[in-house]
Amino acid sequence: MGHPTEQEIVGELRAAGCVFAEDEARVLMETPPDARGALLARRVAGEPLEHVVGWVEFAGARLHVAPGVFVPRRRTEALVRVALPHAEGAVVLEMCCGVGAVAHAIADRTRPRDVIAVDIDPAATDCARRNLPHADVVTGDLFEPLPTALQGTVDVLVANAPYVPTGAVGTMPREARDHEPVVALDGGPDGLDIARRIVEQAPSWLSPGGILAIETSAGQAPSLAALMTAQGLAAEIVVDDDVDGLVVVGLLVGAAVHPENKPTAATVEPGTPARPTVGTDTEASTP
Ligand SMILES: C[S@@+](CC[C@H](N)C(=O)[O-])C[C@H]1O[C@@H](n2cnc3c(N)ncnc32)[C@H](O)[C@@H]1O
Repeated sequence: MGHPTEQEIVGELRAAGCVFAEDEARVLMETPPDARGALLARRVAGEPLEHVVGWVEFAGARLHVAPGVFVPRRRTEALVRVALPHAEGAVVLEMCCGVGAVAHAIADRTRPRDVIAVDIDPAATDCARRNLPHADVVTGDLFEPLPTALQGTVDVLVANAPYVPTGAVGTMPREARDHEPVVALDGGPDGLDIARRIVEQAPSWLSPGGILAIETSAGQAPSLAALMTAQGLAAEIVVDDDVDGLVVVGLLVGAAVHPENKPTAATVEPGTPARPTVGTDTEASTP
């Protein structure tokens, strides 16, 4: 199909089983007419729409995402909401950054002193460099590529690390299994392999009063909170029903999250009425 109309695109997408055919057709209509037929064919063959068009919308911004790189999910906006009250003037480190969506949303809304982003996948850091032109984006295994001078200075450490248990990766939607790298999904036997390493090392990188915030699933949250507690962090489970997200937050010092620092829905999307809850509720999203 050379120059398909919007109606023709909707029809093709519906036939291919796309649930949001009308929305996706509108996005494809933004692409150059000459390319549209080929892009539609890729989408119909099962490639994620974000890879096909080269961008993903996250927290109100369009970010570059290349084929083969993890596509940020809306629930990860919960990490942004948790981090924002701590980010003004802060040193912000996004670990396992992917395209750098969380760091971008934080830097878009506050004035952090420094933003650093790390990922092991060079394709991901290529995207992150485009999305975070003012940040230090480095490729490597967790803290390994970071300068030791950064130790003790990180005020906000955020991570959406891989957390799908190895045995559950095969049950993920085809789009993820076929088009996102396993290194972005597989969190080891209990899903906590990468998070465990982050928690173990975090205290030596955090500043006094700094926070560590890690996205996880309802089932893993109590274990992750216990890991943080074992490292001397004051841990809390933050459930964000608004975006179906769940974050475990650890404070380096013994204070609990102050009420004024609890995340508010309005910090990410002005006008959104619901407010995330802070507590031990474990009824939230799964990977
Ligand atoms: C679930 S994806 C999330 C990406 C990004 N945080 C987001 O929410 O869009 C996990 C990311 O962790 C990265 N990753 C996996 N193991 C890593 C490691 N040992 N060190 C650094 N990054 C790692 C993957 O390459 C992938 O980009």
